[in-house]
Amino acid sequence: ALVSMRELLDHAAANGYGIPAFNVNNLEQVQAVMEAAKETGAPVILQASAGARKYAGEPFIKHLILAAIEAYPDIPLVMHQDHGQSPDVCQGAINLGFSSVMMDGSLEADGKTIASYDYNVDVTRKVVDMAHKVGVTVEGELGCLGSLETMKGDKEDGHGTDATMTREQLLTDPEQAADFVKRTQLDALAIAIGTSHGAYKFSRKPTGDILAIDRIKEIHRRIPNTHLVMHGSSSVPQDLLAIINQYGGKMKETYGVPVEEIQEAIKYGVRKINIDTDIRLAMTGAVRKFMAENPDKFDAREWLKPAREAAKKICKQRYIEFGCEGQA
Ligand code: G3H
Ligand code: 13P
Ligand code: ZN
Repeated sequence: ALVSMRELLDHAAANGYGIPAFNVNNLEQVQAVMEAAKETGAPVILQASAGARKYAGEPFIKHLILAAIEAYPDIPLVMHQDHGQSPDVCQGAINLGFSSVMMDGSLEADGKTIASYDYNVDVTRKVVDMAHKVGVTVEGELGCLGSLETMKGDKEDGHGTDATMTREQLLTDPEQAADFVKRTQLDALAIAIGTSHGAYKFSRKPTGDILAIDRIKEIHRRIPNTHLVMHGSSSVPQDLLAIINQYGGKMKETYGVPVEEIQEAIKYGVRKINIDTDIRLAMTGAVRKFMAENPDKFDAREWLKPAREAAKKICKQRYIEFGCEGQA
């Protein structure tokens, strides 16, 4: 059944676990997440980015998720708009039936210019006003995602900015976070702690200087009742990179957010953990392997099946690691 994100995150906070929020844009990904949730007894957050809505088309995104609810009526499911760039985008998602929206006011509506604090408060507050009227949950973002190794912002797929930033901009300030929550009344807060979107997050296994888990603890101490959200939380498993490269891929050496660090963050108020890249890596590796081993096959279902299977496997793993088992 479709539920609000507030409901799921409140339950996660009361019971001390975190929920992976998986990005989806096609049928096989939706099925993979739902099967993984069914097999582990986990609640589901399916999220669609602006890019996903553009790729599949809004009716398809909407009805893929509605199909998931129909096929798995017993699983609580949140339909979430990821990285809404303006109040208008969020309003559009609400009209489409999303039960949760993210107003990402860390950047202006062009998705590039670093927003002022007042701008962020203003647009987020606006979205809270319209969303709460109809029972929709709101996630906001304070601080800019980006690398503490290169001091550059996160520029994934043409949105975001790769401008050089200060440590201040790349790390959410606990005092400002408290003020932000108070002024916007949002339900969940995405924070910046050195993670970025995509596969190339860290050039080495991250340590505290480039992945600031301690900052989460400081924020949580200041606003213990606010649900925190971690973006750019793929772990970029080395074995998935190895499969891709073994079967003709050319991915460079790279590291993601270790699962142990996410588990530590869950102890300090992180309730929603955004994952897209790991699913992409799993599916790509499976397809490359299948194609290499079966050069005579041409039925798309035959190669989509192992891709879906690989996606399900990583989703199940994260549900278990984040403590979701039996929580639905
Ligand atoms: O927000 C970033 C997610 O990984 C979605 O990426 O815009 O390519 O769909 P996308
Ligand atoms: P990854 O690229 O690390 O999977 O992050 C996804 C994300 O944060 C979507 O909002
Ligand atoms: Zn994100």
